[in-house]
Amino acid sequence: MSLDLLRPISNVIHSANEKSLMSDVNASPLKHFAAAKKQINLIFQELAAFTKESSSFLDTLMNDELDPVATEAQVREARGYLFKVTGIGEVLARGHMKVAFFGRTSNGKSSVINAMLRDKVLPTGIGHTTNCFLQVEGTDGNKAFLLTEGSEERKNIKTVNHLAHALHQDEDLDAGSLVCVMWPKDKCALLRDHLVLVDSPGIDVDTELDTWIDKFCLDADVFVLVANSESTLMQVEKSFFHKVNKRLSSPNIFILNNRWDASASEPEYMEDVRRQHMDRCSSFLVDELGVVDRAQASDRIFFVSAKEVLQARVQKAQGMPEEASAFSKGFQARMFEFENFERRFEECISQSAVKTKFEQHTMRAKQISEALRHMMDDVHNASQKQRVHCLETCEDCRDRLKFIEKQLDLLTMNYKIKIKNITEKVEGQVSNSMAEEIKRLYMLVDDFHMEFHPSQVVLKFYKNELHRHIEEGLGRNMSGRCSTTISDELQTTQTELMESLKPLLPAQVREQMDTLVPRKCFSLNYDLACNKLCSDFQEDIGFRFTLGWTMLVNRFLGPRDARRALMGCNDQVLQPMALTRVSASSPQSSLTMVTGIASLNSHTSMGIIAAGGIVWKAMGWRLIALSVGMYGLVYIYERLMWTTKAKERAFKRQFVEYASEKLQLVVSYTVSNCSHQVQQELSGTLAQLCQQVDVTLQNLKDEIKGADRKVELLDALQLKATLLSNKASWLECKLNLFTQTYLQQGR
Ligand code: GTP
Ligand code: MG
Repeated sequence: MSLDLLRPISNVIHSANEKSLMSDVNASPLKHFAAAKKQINLIFQELAAFTKESSSFLDTLMNDELDPVATEAQVREARGYLFKVTGIGEVLARGHMKVAFFGRTSNGKSSVINAMLRDKVLPTGIGHTTNCFLQVEGTDGNKAFLLTEGSEERKNIKTVNHLAHALHQDEDLDAGSLVCVMWPKDKCALLRDHLVLVDSPGIDVDTELDTWIDKFCLDADVFVLVANSESTLMQVEKSFFHKVNKRLSSPNIFILNNRWDASASEPEYMEDVRRQHMDRCSSFLVDELGVVDRAQASDRIFFVSAKEVLQARVQKAQGMPEEASAFSKGFQARMFEFENFERRFEECISQSAVKTKFEQHTMRAKQISEALRHMMDDVHNASQKQRVHCLETCEDCRDRLKFIEKQLDLLTMNYKIKIKNITEKVEGQVSNSMAEEIKRLYMLVDDFHMEFHPSQVVLKFYKNELHRHIEEGLGRNMSGRCSTTISDELQTTQTELMESLKPLLPAQVREQMDTLVPRKCFSLNYDLACNKLCSDFQEDIGFRFTLGWTMLVNRFLGPRDARRALMGCNDQVLQPMALTRVSASSPQSSLTMVTGIASLNSHTSMGIIAAGGIVWKAMGWRLIALSVGMYGLVYIYERLMWTTKAKERAFKRQFVEYASEKLQLVVSYTVSNCSHQVQQELSGTLAQLCQQVDVTLQNLKDEIKGADRKVELLDALQLKATLLSNKASWLECKLNLFTQTYLQQGR
């Protein structure tokens, strides 16, 4: 079917069905109904399958993955259609044409049915009065059987006498009961075409005519009034059909003037009688009932002899030679008229039955098919709308993704350069500040006030406190010099960074920026660790006489040379008076000399004595005594001045020198430590922001993936909806063709 759907539907249907349908129609009027029934059943099977498929399809649309493309009401409606189509399909499968025979008792109703069936199926004649409604139907089996109302039991019948016996044996049967005579279709061609013939008791023997009409006539397609041509139409017959005409709109009524063979005995009156019957019957059908036009009336009124026809047909069927009666006067004409009746009846019943049985259902099927097609078109349109929206979303997301990735790369690169510049700046700032602070270290040390005592215990405590004081002081001063500027710059950079990355983030993230990327107050940690740095500091606060030997050597040679010069000299304090006499002219020259001597060899006593002798000779003893006295006085003075305060000052001075040296060593370390902190801080912020952007990118990727998946689903939906819509169109075309072929014929 799917391949056929791609071809113009009407062509396909025409090419596939028309030939077979038309050949069926031309074969026999009754085949018209059979062909129509077959066709409409096939269409309804397809419609049921289509409705089921459509309903299941709509059911699958009720998922959460997509926005709704069908409403709950549509889903319910489709389910309702499925129920309806299944119900109609069942009714159609049982569909048949029904003809009901009525007339006064013994008019030959059963005989007419037998003549039509070409077999003695129903009991006739005296003693075989029909006492209930007998419905003759075809069965596929080869055995005839009876079915009575309210029972599933099949009562086998072999002969017509057997049937008559069975009917009369059943005491429960009354005139209003129904017995189905299931007759093998093999034995009777008429029954093969879904025709059901209903025989009735004489309408003059029962008064429950209204009940009969309700029970047996409402679904009848044709009524045959079997009248007796030997008498005129009776009121009871007329009034019955008036009742029928009231209950059904425009029923199809045939009037058979039976026993017309009797007219042959009085041929001189035959034409008059026929005309009289014809007029009365026409007047009844046309004027009283209004069921046919006057022009059509002659096609509804026939003059027949059921008995003759039956007899002739049975004999023919049995291959027996035709009896003399067959050649009785007017037989051929009556036979021809009966056949003519049969033809008209078949045309009438098949067309009428097709119309009454199938027209409403065909229209309903068209409505259902059309409604489902509209539903599928709605689904298609809704899917298309959603698909376009998804594609737009996808496109937007892809553009945004590309833009954000590009911007992020650009910004990251710029900010890496910026971070580098800032860290370099910080390095310079910290380095300068530290150099300044080292220079000003003495002030910091001077500011330290604590009880000083040269004892080791006190000194240890003093040093610790001094370390702490310096560490705090340096930290504070460095902060004062650098931190504010650096943290201002850092904050500005961070704000700039955030502001430039903000547009890359979704609105809700932008609002929560402060929580997602928290900015703590940044402060540089200089980590000078003075305690460790100066742990090796060893003070030298022993008394040093400024004119002492060591001090003089230190002063003139520098601490290193002096140490070398004094190597091996155990006497730390060389007596100065021996040297004073070396120079006669000036103390400076004498000192130079002493230094020179000392540098040559100060250890040997010989040298000292020689030098003393030379000074003695050059200066004289008085001057020497004076110098020694002065020297002693200076010594005493200095000794007295070497107080704890002086010791503290010396200590502090030595400490400043030592700490400055040590601090110089850690300048580069501190600088890189500080710049590292700044770099860490800025890189951290950048990383956090990039992480947020990455989340946004991932969300966009997920959104694209979701939208792509939706587009895929919607494509499949659209395809299915189109297919189902085409199927609906296909079915509508089939139904239209069915209407043209079977329902509009002859209109
Ligand atoms: P009930 O079932 O009693 O209402 O009668 P019916 O209308 O079914 O009549 P049925 O067919 O039983 O025929 C009654 C009698 O009329 C039978 O003996 C038939 O042989 C006879 N009969 C029926 N049709 C004709 C006919 O066309 N010509 C003649 N001469 N007799 C007929
Ligand atoms: Mg009968």
